[in-house]
Amino acid sequence: MEIKVVQDSKSIESDILVVSMYEGGRTVSDLANKYAIEQDNFKGKFGETYLLPTYGKEVYKKVLILGLGEKDEFNPNKMREAVAKAIKKSMQMEAKKVAFSLDGIEFDYSEQFTIGAMIADYSFDKYKSEKKDNKVREVYVQANADIVAKAKKIAEAMAFARNLANEPAQFATPAELAAIACDLGLETRVYDKEECEKMGMGAFLAVAQGSSREPKFIHMKYQVDNPKKKIAIIGKGITFDSGGLDIKPPSSMLTMKDDMSAAACVLGVMSVIREFHPQVEVHGIIAACENMPGCSAYKPGDILTAKNGKTIEVDNTDAEGRLTLADALCYACELGVDEVIDLATLTGACMVALGTNAAGIMGNDKALVQNLISIAERSGERFWELPLWEEYFDSLKSDIADMKNTGSRWGGASTAGVFLQKFVKDAKWAHIDIAGTAFLEKPQKEFIKGATGAGVRTLLNYILEQ
Ligand code: BES
Ligand code: MN
Ligand code: ZN
Repeated sequence: MEIKVVQDSKSIESDILVVSMYEGGRTVSDLANKYAIEQDNFKGKFGETYLLPTYGKEVYKKVLILGLGEKDEFNPNKMREAVAKAIKKSMQMEAKKVAFSLDGIEFDYSEQFTIGAMIADYSFDKYKSEKKDNKVREVYVQANADIVAKAKKIAEAMAFARNLANEPAQFATPAELAAIACDLGLETRVYDKEECEKMGMGAFLAVAQGSSREPKFIHMKYQVDNPKKKIAIIGKGITFDSGGLDIKPPSSMLTMKDDMSAAACVLGVMSVIREFHPQVEVHGIIAACENMPGCSAYKPGDILTAKNGKTIEVDNTDAEGRLTLADALCYACELGVDEVIDLATLTGACMVALGTNAAGIMGNDKALVQNLISIAERSGERFWELPLWEEYFDSLKSDIADMKNTGSRWGGASTAGVFLQKFVKDAKWAHIDIAGTAFLEKPQKEFIKGATGAGVRTLLNYILEQ
């Protein structure tokens, strides 16, 4: 899809002209006012649409009225959703050229317009032998061209991440993630199993043990002279989470190719970062492996030693993400960065608590957490803070090691958070649990089923705002 910024979208020859309408308001189209509003009593509630032909009397073949709902309640996030609706409707009509005339919107909608259109344009049909040809090819809009260009890159990074997370685990393997990282044109180092052993990554390697696929520890670097700040972003990269010996029931395993969604997010961010020239150093880190049962798999009761020397008694092999992240956090902190942000499809508990629209965020620095929450809001994502009170560690106490990897069922997202905190040293740190938001089992707002590219927009905007 191409988004073209124009002066007057109504004068473009198009298949559909989309005109906006607040609830109870009027539109720029006389035709729309006459038929939809006066004759058919169309109200313009949020997300409602009304389609009418122009019988060759206009340069656009049809008019699609897009309801924006109450004017006072309208905002950039609703804008994104509404545009996605219009694009999906246009796809149903097999329209190829769609022009938007968005009158009466009082904020700059350029960013959310672009992102909404491109989210709606996404499909994952590479394994379909018959592909639908229902994509909109050209979109015309009056908007700020610079912001559209920026948003387009962000949306491309999201699509990149969605493609990777939608990819079956048989193809999106640790080695494949490493190869993709190496192809991004950044300075990238991939550590194999022996090198991880030398670095003392006993927790990460234990998780990888049950799989015949070799683990890969991936470190990408974006560097600039005199960076204002050094940031590490870590993405959980479990390319398939069977649960290990504590094997998951079939229904819970169905979506577990998505357990590298956070790694996909980090790769998505790193795939476009150079195009923005941010004045910060950014390290993208992924400890990639599979969590499988097998004759060499790690076992409940095993004691693992993480990179920082801390010992962990394995209580449940399905709490594997925090083990891989433990070593990744140690590695990131040893780089001497100012801030470490990890993302992970970490706990079902976070999904139970916050649902599929919001990610949980925790951290050791109030300002960092608050800043990420507000940038998420502006970027079109939702982060909600969960506590990291030390009481959560009580259930992780082990009789024979420094800690266990799981404890009580209750407060599972925070328990995982306090576990991770034990591996953070001398850096501001935030942990974002995207278990609920990364992969949808049914369509939600502008997204189809499957991967959403969770975290990409917020991380990129966070980096760009430094
Ligand atoms: N990858 C899962 C978490 C998950 C669950 C992500 C559902 C997305 C949807 C994680 O590795 C896991 O298995 N967590 C366990 C932890 C438990 C054993 C303490 C969980 O949440 O059940
Ligand atoms: Mn698991
Ligand atoms: Zn997992």
